[in-house]
Amino acid sequence: MNIRDRIDTIFPPQEQFAGRNRLEPQEVREYLVNGELRRWEGATQEVFSPLCALKPDGPERVRIGSFPLMAEADALSALEAAAAAYDNGRGKWPTMTVAGRIAHVQGFAARMKERREEVVRLLMWEIGKTAADAGKEFDRTVAYIADTIDALKELDRVSSRFVIEQGIIGQIRRAPLGVALCMGPYNYPLNETFTTLIPALIMGNTVLLKPPRHGVLLFAPLLRAFRDSFPPGVVNTLFGSGRTITPPLMRTGRVDILAFIGTSGAANALHKEHPKPHRLRSVLGLEAKNPAIILPDADLHVAVEECLAGSLTFNGQRCTAIKIIFAHESVAEQFLALFSRTLSAVGIGLPWDPAVMLTPLPEPGKTVYLAGLVDDAVRHGARVMNEEGGSVAGTYFHPALVYPVTPRMRLYTEEQFGPVVPVVPFTDTAEPVRYIEESDYGQQVSIFGRDPQLLATLIDPLVNQVSRVNINSQCQRGPDVFPFTGRKDSAVGTLSVSDALRAFSIRTLVAAKESEPNKGIIADIVREHRSNFLSTDFIL
Ligand code: G3H
Repeated sequence: MNIRDRIDTIFPPQEQFAGRNRLEPQEVREYLVNGELRRWEGATQEVFSPLCALKPDGPERVRIGSFPLMAEADALSALEAAAAAYDNGRGKWPTMTVAGRIAHVQGFAARMKERREEVVRLLMWEIGKTAADAGKEFDRTVAYIADTIDALKELDRVSSRFVIEQGIIGQIRRAPLGVALCMGPYNYPLNETFTTLIPALIMGNTVLLKPPRHGVLLFAPLLRAFRDSFPPGVVNTLFGSGRTITPPLMRTGRVDILAFIGTSGAANALHKEHPKPHRLRSVLGLEAKNPAIILPDADLHVAVEECLAGSLTFNGQRCTAIKIIFAHESVAEQFLALFSRTLSAVGIGLPWDPAVMLTPLPEPGKTVYLAGLVDDAVRHGARVMNEEGGSVAGTYFHPALVYPVTPRMRLYTEEQFGPVVPVVPFTDTAEPVRYIEESDYGQQVSIFGRDPQLLATLIDPLVNQVSRVNINSQCQRGPDVFPFTGRKDSAVGTLSVSDALRAFSIRTLVAAKESEPNKGIIADIVREHRSNFLSTDFIL
């Protein structure tokens, strides 16, 4: 089948969504506040899948359920529950031993694993993620929890001792900060939400969990596990429009940590709502426009393989995606030909088909937005280099390889967050380096080449512009033990397994002059296990 026919036949008639691939609409009417699953009787938001059914008038999004559209008062009562559970640091959760909190999180992870199939299916239906990637997202999240527990044990072991310095005895540990508002993005609704939620929780904070705009229903199968695994008020869920419910939360001044993955505009707006922004700890994953640089001596097969995966995995909807490619003019034509040939063989279709990589897009209006970017580039002299690049069928947008992209085009600076691959020719490596220096973003870069000297001369300036330089490899977040952050408008804070524990806590210590009476008091507290903080208990 040629590409046009493949695009035209992506969506089947409704009756073909059958058997294992069928999804009964999920009408979510429960939400978790103060340890209770409360029944929602108010307004709801309908959810339509990126997956369409073929109707007489063309492809139509399938309705897959609905969820509560909470109002300001509902969000404030969830905040009240989280603040009460924290209780100025006196609550059961923030004063619990580290071993105790670990046991609760382990219990949750075991319960969560039982719901894998439902969550993976909802990832496919809600955001169009392929079965393989949805499974990976789930498993990676479970692994992240296990790794976080190991990292915390290690951190706690180091803290289970006293330091004596200049006649002062001290025990230094990390303590929680208060109430965390955790909001993930739609492209990794489970994983990225949990990479803030889990460290926030395990460090003793209480949490308000707000799912992203797309990827809400998949939290429903986990609500009971949250309820049963943590003391009341430690985890509370917010369903609804972020614009309606999050600014009032911030205005109370009672949110202590803003953990948000999204745009810098939204993050700034929320930050400004806090009456005392200096009190707010921000952990933010924001925009990026990661470039790839193809040097004249690059292995083009490696470059194409990595750039294709880097720019088009999950249809380019990754913050770490390669979003602009600088190809040296001596290899640009060859690179484009190989890229477009490889792309034409990539599977397109519905997420459960194991041969598929490219799938429909969840954001309403996204195909129109992407077509606008391509039109703008074409108007300014670029061409679409691949067969059917930019063709649309319902919510599906066929990737467009666009060349030559110049600074006059929106694609040069705008983060497309979708399947459009802009390629810029260059003659001197100073050009992509200048692009990175002038960019508002500073997450990662990928460099493709073989000459160690040339690579080294690029590495040294670029490590001071971005937060990860990838050699002959695509940009990516993992492995999760590696630090994940960005400069400029790309991030605030660092989120590896161990860095996240630090991001969601503060160092605090108990200290005393090394006098005999003080030594006696400390020895008594430790020996009699009178304190969970002042303790030499060692987690094995
Ligand atoms: O959307 C941003 C994600 O953190 C990217 O993670 O590189 O593993 O896809 P990834």
